[in-house]
Amino acid sequence: MADRFKEISEEIKSFKANNADELEQYRLKFIGRKNVIADLFTEMRNVPNDEKKAFGQSVNELKNLAKKKFQALIEEVNSGGNSVEEHPDLTLPPVKMEFGSIHPLTATRQRFIQIFERIGFNVSSGPEIEDDWHNFTALNFPENHPAREMQDTFFIEKNPDIALRTHTSSVQIRVMENEKPPIRTLSPGRVFRNEAISARAHCVFHQMEGLYIDKGVSFADLKQTLYHFVKEMFAGDTKIRFRPSYFPFTEPSAEIDISCQICHGDGCNICKYTGWVEIGGAGMVDPNVLENCGIDSNIYSGFAFGMGIERITMLRYGIKDLRLFTENDIRFLKQFNSL
Ligand code: PHE
Repeated sequence: MADRFKEISEEIKSFKANNADELEQYRLKFIGRKNVIADLFTEMRNVPNDEKKAFGQSVNELKNLAKKKFQALIEEVNSGGNSVEEHPDLTLPPVKMEFGSIHPLTATRQRFIQIFERIGFNVSSGPEIEDDWHNFTALNFPENHPAREMQDTFFIEKNPDIALRTHTSSVQIRVMENEKPPIRTLSPGRVFRNEAISARAHCVFHQMEGLYIDKGVSFADLKQTLYHFVKEMFAGDTKIRFRPSYFPFTEPSAEIDISCQICHGDGCNICKYTGWVEIGGAGMVDPNVLENCGIDSNIYSGFAFGMGIERITMLRYGIKDLRLFTENDIRFLKQFNSL
């Protein structure tokens, strides 16, 4: 019998309750109506008379021990137990919250739209998988233009040709086909060209093209609009220049250069020591293109321009490798937390 007392008393002493459930288990076993100690009382009648007194005392001692322990366990559970998990150390410095950030390409696209929205442009979009008409033919591309070659264009189907769009000029065709002038629209979006991936080129990139069609639109309007854009997008002292160029869909056509944002004209490897960096192409919409879209070229004229969002973003933030935009390296993206 002495062993039994010892066993129960050990069990009481070593009992640990980490939560209310375990506390309840303790209560049922040692305190509740049919508890192990009460069972001992019922055994009393089998105990020889001369031992009854000592037996009774031992049972009472156990009962008191169980009650005391119960109080201690209640306090412990109410104060949250002593496990670290359930009872954090409130004096520790807080865990830093990680906030996401706007991707730099998105920030540039948004800024672009903001600048042009203020001068009356809206935003239009079109499919990334295009037919030959919208990507090439309506834009006055000759039958054997090199951009139609397999090396440059990702064709999905041949005859009739279906391809991943090589520029968002295709969206401008769709807008001109469906809307009446005056048209002032921006077409941002992904474009695809079969190019080897390097620090300066990617087979997928983003363009922002603009189109303005109305009566009496001139090259002076094109220059002034782009001049305004460059002043808003880049540092206030940025210079702009136009170089004669060629695109099938514009006549006359020009390349747009701005003064190098990295060296400010002193010469560096970004501007190849010329002080100027190309940001895109532009020109007056070729009358053939207007006619292809059902717009009378005797009444209306217009200008168009196209720029690479990656290029503009690299110049804005001094990013030297275009691959960083798609690697999803958090150390790169984190630097744009304040955008
Ligand atoms: N679509 C041309 C390109 O992708 C850019 C451009 C747009 C040039 C509009 C002139 C006018 O290269």
